[in-house]
Amino acid sequence: MNLTLHVWRQPNASERGRFVTYQARDISPDMSFLEMLDVVNEGLTVNGEPPIAFDSDCREGICGTCGMVINGRAHGPRARTTACQLHMRSFEDGDTITIEPWRAASFPVIRDLVVDRSPLDRIIAAGGFVTAPTGSAPEANSLPVPKENAELAMDAAACIGCGACVAACPNASAMLFTAAKVAHLGLLPQGQAERERRALAMVWQMDAEGFGGCSNHRECEAVCPKGITIDNIARMNRDYIRASAARGRRLADDEGGAG
Ligand code: SF4
Ligand code: FES
Repeated sequence: MNLTLHVWRQPNASERGRFVTYQARDISPDMSFLEMLDVVNEGLTVNGEPPIAFDSDCREGICGTCGMVINGRAHGPRARTTACQLHMRSFEDGDTITIEPWRAASFPVIRDLVVDRSPLDRIIAAGGFVTAPTGSAPEANSLPVPKENAELAMDAAACIGCGACVAACPNASAMLFTAAKVAHLGLLPQGQAERERRALAMVWQMDAEGFGGCSNHRECEAVCPKGITIDNIARMNRDYIRASAARGRRLADDEGGAG
């Protein structure tokens, strides 16, 4: 296959970027999208030009690092498919493909297609954990989990933190990501002790990082490579409201006690 690529090139966060056109020749339909970029980069390197910078790690659809916007869609044209799992047979010989980084103020471009997604790490650090004592794994049947909750928790835990939901949202909201991380612990018995604190801390951190609120467009759900649903956002909102009300009551009690 021969393709024309319009690729966003930007040397760093402070310099302006622009689209540069490249020809990708003799591309196998069985190559992944990232392998196609590897071939283009080999050609650029041979010509003494800087290769196109993009993130990747596992190349198996599980690490979440390879996010980029391909022909206007986060991770490209195939549903539930990360950019590394997208194969060139999804395109036609002679196609023109536009490749851009995630576009969100909270995800500044580091170089070319690489953006800084550390705000997602800070949301996790704010509360996406359980402070349970560590040690040997408990006997599996000692803590029963209703099957429905186990399934829902596993579905939410499938989020790989790629940030496609942010890139697709007109409001650059990180609510689908945050909701998945709040939900997968909030649905399990082990996550109950910190459920209130977690919902408050992670939502506050999400806001502090400059992500917008849910736009109700459901673009996040449409592009999510792991099929995370917006049901999780509704669950997070319920947790957040319940936690805010409980916190308000405690503050009122404290003030009453002090008076
Ligand atoms: S919710 Fe989906 S799109 Fe958003 S970070 Fe998680 S896996 Fe990626
Ligand atoms: S490189 Fe890991 S998900 Fe694509």
